[in-house]
Parts: sequence; structure tokens; C-alpha cells
Amino acid sequence: ACAEKAGYEHFMMKEMCEEPKVVRDTINPRIEGFGVNLGNTGITAEALKDIDKINIVACGTASHAGIVGKYIIEKLARIPVEVDVASEFRYREPIISRRNLVIIISQSGETIDTLFALREAKKRGARTLAVVNVVGSSIAREADDVLYTWAGPEIAVASTKAYNTQLAAMYLIALDLACKKGSIDSETAKGIIDSLKAAPDAIEEVLGNCEAIQKFASQHYNAKSIFFIGRGLDYALSMEGSLKLKEISYIHSEAYAGGELKHGTIALIEKGTLVVCSMTQKGLLEKMISNIKEVKARGAVVMAITQQSNEEVWKAADIVIEIPDIDSIIAPIVAITPMQLFAYYMALQKGCDVDKPRNLAKSVTVE
Ligand code: G6P
Repeated sequence: ACAEKAGYEHFMMKEMCEEPKVVRDTINPRIEGFGVNLGNTGITAEALKDIDKINIVACGTASHAGIVGKYIIEKLARIPVEVDVASEFRYREPIISRRNLVIIISQSGETIDTLFALREAKKRGARTLAVVNVVGSSIAREADDVLYTWAGPEIAVASTKAYNTQLAAMYLIALDLACKKGSIDSETAKGIIDSLKAAPDAIEEVLGNCEAIQKFASQHYNAKSIFFIGRGLDYALSMEGSLKLKEISYIHSEAYAGGELKHGTIALIEKGTLVVCSMTQKGLLEKMISNIKEVKARGAVVMAITQQSNEEVWKAADIVIEIPDIDSIIAPIVAITPMQLFAYYMALQKGCDVDKPRNLAKSVTVE
């Protein structure tokens, strides 16, 4: 009830515009010098010795933040991570013991599937850490530890700013674990923390350059089906980009790992098919450019999202949405914003109710 659109036409736009601030609010209090300090929430180096594996469990957008979490925790902390959607985790008799750390991600902290997954993990003896946005919510109360995302109230049904802060939380957790485990040196940690601190300004810049996306959307809103492709962290990001588009514009879309396209889905690419290529991972750029060539040879129209300095992408794609130059590992927290804007403008062009999409609820508290 206290929610005001503050001059914005939609809550979704207002909330995207809040991303720089809320990412800052989530990161800054937990950064100390060149390191991360999660206070009581952080697992001690001693307790970490008893953890063999991490499970991340969530629904919807939060589960996509979990997939990014898997990539970065495994990369930095070298601890195996498994990601499940909560409704599957609960019923598959997960192999969990006191040697597992189960991270539960939820904006509302009230999603019933996620809450029951948390209880299942506790029943099996796991240590549990909730990454939650709503203070005092059921999941926050029941988990052993809570790391709050400081996104503030999110009113639009399609989650935007909360996702960015969930990613911020994943970076903080990954860095904390890596430093305690000694799997990265302090120089590397410092470099990543510096990039993370630069992310809010980079998001600000992306928001300021939204016209190109708006224009592209105005030319393509009649698309019947859209593909989102990427490799590594960009694949994880593509899943969220695709979900956002489906949720509010009702356009069918699919997220695919760039390298997997040729094993089936490429059959669906024909003249005019729109392909959104997320290309923020420097080491995988060449491979993605090959993927662009493959789809363009079949008539696809390609919109690429990449860092400014990746000039080679310009030659390959039809339109490039630039994000500022930022380390590949941190790039997802910035690169998701153009995808959210894309979904928003596509939905707007189609005349959809962007804040209240049909059949969806903000928080699903029934099974
Ligand atoms: C609902 C919402 C999604 C959200 C999911 C998980 O399905 O429509 O936007 O991602 O629930 O919500 P949570 O509050 O647990 O993050």
C-alpha cells in the first residue's frame, strides 16, 4: 500500500531504475577493505571444512540467480554446487546430510515450494543459509542463517531489481567462501571486489542508454518465438532473459547454451527468427561469434549484448547493445538489465499489462 510509482508509468520501470542503488545497498555494507565480511551469516573457516557440497534451491527468477551462483561459487571457491528448483528438490529424496550447505533463495521468503524445500534440507541435517529480500519472512525465520538482499519492496510481478541483488549476494557468498578456503589469493579477490563495486555505475549507464533497446523492440514486437543463447555465465543469464520476456510479453522463447544449439534447436531458426546473444564472457567470445554465424546463415536477426571493447561482435551481429567494460565474472549483474528492458519494451509495444501479467502471482503460497 505504501508503494508509489514515483512518476514512473510502471512499477517494473521504477524498479529497474532502482537497480544501481539496491545493488550498492546489498554490496557496500558487506565489503571491508579488500575483503568480504558477512558478519554472523558467514560460515567460519573451521565449519567450512565440514562442508563437501553446496545445494542451491529456489523457484523462478531466484532459481536463475542460483544457476549464476553455481558457476561463480564453483569457479572461485572450488566447491561443487548443485542447483534445483524447489518443487523438484523436495520430492526427489535429495542426498543431503550435515556435510551439505543448502542455500535457499527467495525474494518474498514465502514461496511454499521453497519453504518446504528448506524444511526438507533441515530435516536431513544440512546447514541452511537463506538469501531473502523480505525481512522476517517465513524462510528468513526458519533458516539457520540469513543474508538479506536489500532490494526494498518489489511490486511488479516480474522480478527485476531483486534478481540483481540476488546475484550480488551470490558474489558475496562466493568471495567469502573462496577467501576462507584460500582458493583465490588476495590480489584476485581485490580485483573481483573492485569490479563488483563498479557494477552499480555500469547498470546506471545501461539504464541511460535504453533507447536502442526500445527502438529494437518497436521493430520486433510481433516476433512469434525468440531464442536467447549464451555460454557459461551467459547461458545462466539467458535463462532469466528468456523467462522475463515470456512472463510479461507472452512471446514464446527459449534459452539455449550456445554450443548445444546445433544438437537440435537450430532446426527452428529460420528467416527473421530473433536471437538474443549474451556475450560477456571474454574467453568464450570466439565460440559465440561462430554461433552467430550459424544462426545468421539460416536467416536469424541477432541482437548481441556485450562489453564496449568487444569490437569483433559488431561485425557479427545485427545490433549490439553495449554494456560498460567490466570483468567477465561480474558482467551478468550488469548484462541482465538490457534483457529486462527488452522484455519491458516488447510487452509495452504489445499492449500487455507489464506489472500484472496474466496468470502469474508475485508470491506463490500454495502448492
Ligand atoms: C513467483 C513469481 C516469480 C518468482 C517466483 C519465486 O512465481 O511470479 O517472479 O521468481 O515466484 O519467488 P520468490 O519470492 O521465492 O523469489
